[in-house]
Amino acid sequence: MKKTLAISALCILAIVNGCSKKQEKTQDTPPGAAATADKTPFPDFGYLPPPNEYSGPVFKLSQDYPDAVPNGPLPEFFETDYKKDWRKYLEQVQAYCFEGNTEVDFRVEYNKTRAWYHMPWQHFSLTGSGREGIHGLTQEAPVQPFQLAPTQSSDSAGAVAVGFYNDVAGYTIGQVWKDHYAPDHSKDVAFKNGAVLFKLLFVTLTEKEAVSQVPWLANGIWWDGYVVSNFKRMGEPDPAIYRHKTKVVLIQMDVMIRDDRAPTGWILGNFQYNGKLNKPDSWQNLIPVGIMWGDDPQDSTNASNPQPTKTIINPNLKETIINPDANELPATHLGWNSRLNGPVDNPMSSCFSCHSTAEYPQYALMSPLFNEDTAKVNPPGSAGWMRWFRNLPCGTPFSSDAHSMDFSLQLAMSLQNFYDWKAKQAGLFYDAYKSSEQRPMMKAAREEAEMPEEAAQPVRKVQPITFPY
Ligand code: HEC
Repeated sequence: MKKTLAISALCILAIVNGCSKKQEKTQDTPPGAAATADKTPFPDFGYLPPPNEYSGPVFKLSQDYPDAVPNGPLPEFFETDYKKDWRKYLEQVQAYCFEGNTEVDFRVEYNKTRAWYHMPWQHFSLTGSGREGIHGLTQEAPVQPFQLAPTQSSDSAGAVAVGFYNDVAGYTIGQVWKDHYAPDHSKDVAFKNGAVLFKLLFVTLTEKEAVSQVPWLANGIWWDGYVVSNFKRMGEPDPAIYRHKTKVVLIQMDVMIRDDRAPTGWILGNFQYNGKLNKPDSWQNLIPVGIMWGDDPQDSTNASNPQPTKTIINPNLKETIINPDANELPATHLGWNSRLNGPVDNPMSSCFSCHSTAEYPQYALMSPLFNEDTAKVNPPGSAGWMRWFRNLPCGTPFSSDAHSMDFSLQLAMSLQNFYDWKAKQAGLFYDAYKSSEQRPMMKAAREEAEMPEEAAQPVRKVQPITFPY
């Protein structure tokens, strides 16, 4: 009860002042904690092809996070009006993310312009989706047939991706992960004003499929990756055995900016590859899809466009702007009722919606649709469903009994993966949880997990498996 009150008070603070005040409060480190911190380096990746298949450069996790809040000048786009000049704003953000990176293939250790960091603990995952060692890619969502184009019949491809964090964002990662074997998730995380996060997404279509099925992937940027390219295999007990060295093609770029000017503190943007434009620098074929700074909670109309033949723009949205140029932007599905989303994202969701659930423990599903029971009690447009389309301020947990990971789903996953790994090392296996009827503590946890709280609450059936140690 006390905590709920505290959170509401902080929400008000966050709305008035961005997250700044709250950050002062939540980012304190207990005195002496750093002195004993275990700094054994985080593993760079989890999977690398055997030497007879690959001998090129390997992914190096950038993990020398700043100890103090970086106090350099903010990038120039913090002066640009992100609503009125949304396109200029997105182009400036993209230029900032590209600078010093495109010429070194995003091997950020060679970037001469500015430091970029990665999120630790993406190398391990119980589902086998962990980071590979050529470019640091992780397995993401499958791509549904006809999701990308009316000619895209492939039903087995999926997205693989790698994320990057600037120095201001890297500082916050370093605070949570100060001790590499005892992360601090005792309070809400709040990135500082000036944090910039971005992600490059590729698809596992073959070269033949890409060109014949998705015309705008022509003149593509192809990377080597050590991945499970057939996403149907990802459901199998040990999907890692299906990894192989293959080429993957760039399709999308996502950006997230912590900016005090935005009502919730976050601005999210997206770029889609259009190789038909065939610009001299292929990276410039990533053209703006749009921008969002809120989730339009007032609009509960249920609409989506999962197999797009044209981009449908919803004029009623007040917090999403979509690129109206159909010549430049190939037909794309966007998110729920045309909120911003990228081509490989879920057409019933939105950037803001999924990312607002980032918390630890990760009680909330990224969408009610990801669990049949939750979907039943929260049909699209219902009050329960609209919990995923609230304008949650930065640094505020989605579930009142979790701590916010401030929109960073990789940060939430880093903790989850770490504890899953730890549980395995301790010999407490996931399978033991599944067949735990005879253990009273686990039985109680299972029962609680399967009991809907009330119609508007997510059903905690797929609650992450974390145990006290
Ligand atoms: C269906 C849910 C979902 C949607 C929709 C979604 N994302 Fe994500 N996003 C994720 C997950 C899960 C991760 C973490 C996994 C990863 O990156 O490997 C992530 C990671 C990211 C990252 C890396 C930073 C971090 O720590 O979270 C960025 C940046 C990002 N997304 C931006 C966006 C933007 C911008 C959009 C909309 C164009 C978007 N996302 C739509 C689920 C989603």
